[in-house]
Amino acid sequence: MSLELTAPIPEEPSVADDGTWLECIECGEQFAPFDDVRYTCDDCDGLLEVRYASPPTWDDFEGRGVWRYNAALPFEEGVSLPEGATPLHTVPRLESDVGVETLRIKHEGMNPTGSFKDRGMTVGVRVAKELGVGRLACASTGNTSAALAAYGARGGMETLVLLPAGKVAAGKIAQAALHDARILEVDGNFDSCLDIVQDLAARGEVYLLNSLNPFRLEGQKTIGLEILEEFFDDYGTYPDRIVLPVGNAGNTSALYKAFRELVQSGALDAEDVPKLTGVQAEGAAPMVEAIENGWDETRRWDDVETRATAIRIGNPVNAPKALPGIRETGGTAVAVSDEEITEAQRDLAAEGVGVEPASAASVAGLRKLRENGTVSEDEQVVCLTTGHLLKDPDAAFEAGDDPEPVPNDTDAVLEHLAE
Ligand code: F0G
Repeated sequence: MSLELTAPIPEEPSVADDGTWLECIECGEQFAPFDDVRYTCDDCDGLLEVRYASPPTWDDFEGRGVWRYNAALPFEEGVSLPEGATPLHTVPRLESDVGVETLRIKHEGMNPTGSFKDRGMTVGVRVAKELGVGRLACASTGNTSAALAAYGARGGMETLVLLPAGKVAAGKIAQAALHDARILEVDGNFDSCLDIVQDLAARGEVYLLNSLNPFRLEGQKTIGLEILEEFFDDYGTYPDRIVLPVGNAGNTSALYKAFRELVQSGALDAEDVPKLTGVQAEGAAPMVEAIENGWDETRRWDDVETRATAIRIGNPVNAPKALPGIRETGGTAVAVSDEEITEAQRDLAAEGVGVEPASAASVAGLRKLRENGTVSEDEQVVCLTTGHLLKDPDAAFEAGDDPEPVPNDTDAVLEHLAE
């Protein structure tokens, strides 16, 4: 099976371009990477992965940000703002409160448009240029649309985004609007938006830049590479576990691929690979359901609901890549309530780390797994926070305290403070 953690380095096929090709994870069919536009396998419609004849080692990396890792990517450089090199915060009070040996927060909200999607788009838009396509498009719960709009603008390309009406946080729509994407609000959920944009792509109307596009995930691999490098610098070991929010399971798939390629090149021992641990909201948890039941695929949830609108997704398209990632690394998946998510958002804010609700799911999930004994007290853990607080101002207002009106007078202000 091609997604095993210890799969050998693949042999370079004749269709490869400079040591890079596309391969179907289901039937193994191989394709030239940049000759045609293709998102899934021509033969069986399986998901495609980018494959390399020479997977990277630590010595290959130099510079800063996503493109530091160009030895692990299909190009030397991309359409860049630039992105990556996000902080790996210490959170000492939260660490001791949760009760693990080490807790670090990889804050992906510190990317140029405020989410990890920028890492995928810097590569995806570069590929779009290579292919010479016209209009770029995505379905989105918000962050992908903001990133696509900004990177499309940077690359001088037209962008179209399909959003579930009434279910996207204000900051994200504002970004898409100002970066001049054409915004279509669909009377349906994210999964319906993705169905439509896939149809548009199949009809040749748009170039699809959702995480179904295998090149997007190449950029997102760099989250895993950055975490491992920085953690090793600080502790001389790799984290035992990485906990992350799951929607379409693109990030889960991307981190697993990063680790698999390091194992292939000999840069990382298989037993040092962190346990990938996915967290979903209770109202949108098909991945958790599949992990708990030992299923090889997810069941589509038609009715999904959560305050964490970024992960309000019922049909995680990357599940066939992510489920093996969670299982092969010895990880797990857990669902958390909206109340637990808001509580975790406050906990992070109390350490100065401002995140949107979906991001806080990672910390809420860790707390739950620690409480039920799945995570032990001697573990070293990294939680991924995927988007910035300002993405969803309404959620921040709801989770935080209200402003207090006072008169325009110092004595009155002091009196108010004394109350
Ligand atoms: N966290 C945030 C803040 C997100 O925006 C998303 C996905 C995820 C987590 C889940 O990541 O799909 O890789 O499992 N947002 C997409 C969007 C769906 O359209 O912005 P995943």
